[in-house]
Amino acid sequence: MIESQLARFPRLELVTAPTALEKLERLSASLGREVYVKRDDTTTLAMGGNKVRKLEYLAADALAQGADTLITAGAIQSNHVRQTAALAARLGLGCVALLENSIASTDHNYLTNGNRLLLDLFGTHVEPIENLDNADAQLESLANRLRSEGKKPYSVPIGGSNALGALGYVRAGLELAAQIRKTGLTFAAVVLASGSAGTHSGLALALSEALPELPVIGVTVSRIDAAQRPKVQGLAELTAQLLRVPLPEAFKVELWDEYFAPAYGIPNAGTQAAIKWVASQEGLLLDPAYTGKAMAGLLDGIERGRFADGPILFLHTGGSPSLFAYHPAKLD
Ligand SMILES: Cc1ncc(COP(=O)(O)O)c(C=O)c1O
Repeated sequence: MIESQLARFPRLELVTAPTALEKLERLSASLGREVYVKRDDTTTLAMGGNKVRKLEYLAADALAQGADTLITAGAIQSNHVRQTAALAARLGLGCVALLENSIASTDHNYLTNGNRLLLDLFGTHVEPIENLDNADAQLESLANRLRSEGKKPYSVPIGGSNALGALGYVRAGLELAAQIRKTGLTFAAVVLASGSAGTHSGLALALSEALPELPVIGVTVSRIDAAQRPKVQGLAELTAQLLRVPLPEAFKVELWDEYFAPAYGIPNAGTQAAIKWVASQEGLLLDPAYTGKAMAGLLDGIERGRFADGPILFLHTGGSPSLFAYHPAKLD
């Protein structure tokens, strides 16, 4: 039902083949537990990541509306802004980004390297902003200003996380369900980072229909359970409405929020250990703000017996360009 409804929405084809589902052999052997990873860090745009899937739907909408400029917002090291800016460059559109220094960093690498460096290569017009406490209104006011200058802006919300953007992860969820069926394995859970929520909401929505027994566990990276839960639930409801399907009965928001302290964008000791361990065991790069925290949750979950039996699937949502913004000060 979801699949046929999804087909109604125009999509700019950027992810032209399913991303790989790989077993982490050495990590699994060390843990005594099979761990697989879905490689959405390898999507084909400017160092990859999960936002490419959301942008397939958002950019198709922008083009249909005749936009000439993509506008968006995020942290200085936002992967979302990097992928949006790269896509704007590829499509010959302008890009204006509102960037906040939410962790009040004075670190030269954080301020200039990693994702921020790439924005300059894409020709992004960056506007620093004190905070993004009212991001939708701040983007609207930027859009009005650009309109008054004769531009046709299209506003991409923070993280690409509105119902249209979440369709990218509905599609990814259907893709993943087909891959899981092919393995013949019964996975204990899918684990992913849950931030602006579009990835979590879309994936959980699709999987609750396609594989209703499979738990989807979001490791919070931005806010505590009490604040994140209504965000994921609300966006899943809006996405189901957009698709004109009921929220499947099996749909459930599962969150682990013990792994993101002290704050969004600041790695903790568990994050750092997870990044280093996975890199040294598998040559696989995580990141300090999202996947390092989600992987720390997965590893701790195994140690504490939080999962049912069966292999565990990690959704790798990307983010490794920001390693260069945190190294060496924050990862030593
Ligand atoms: C690497 C990475 N992983 C996960 C996420 C979280 O995805 P979402 O914002 O859809 O919850 C982000 C969002 O910026 C990200 O950049």
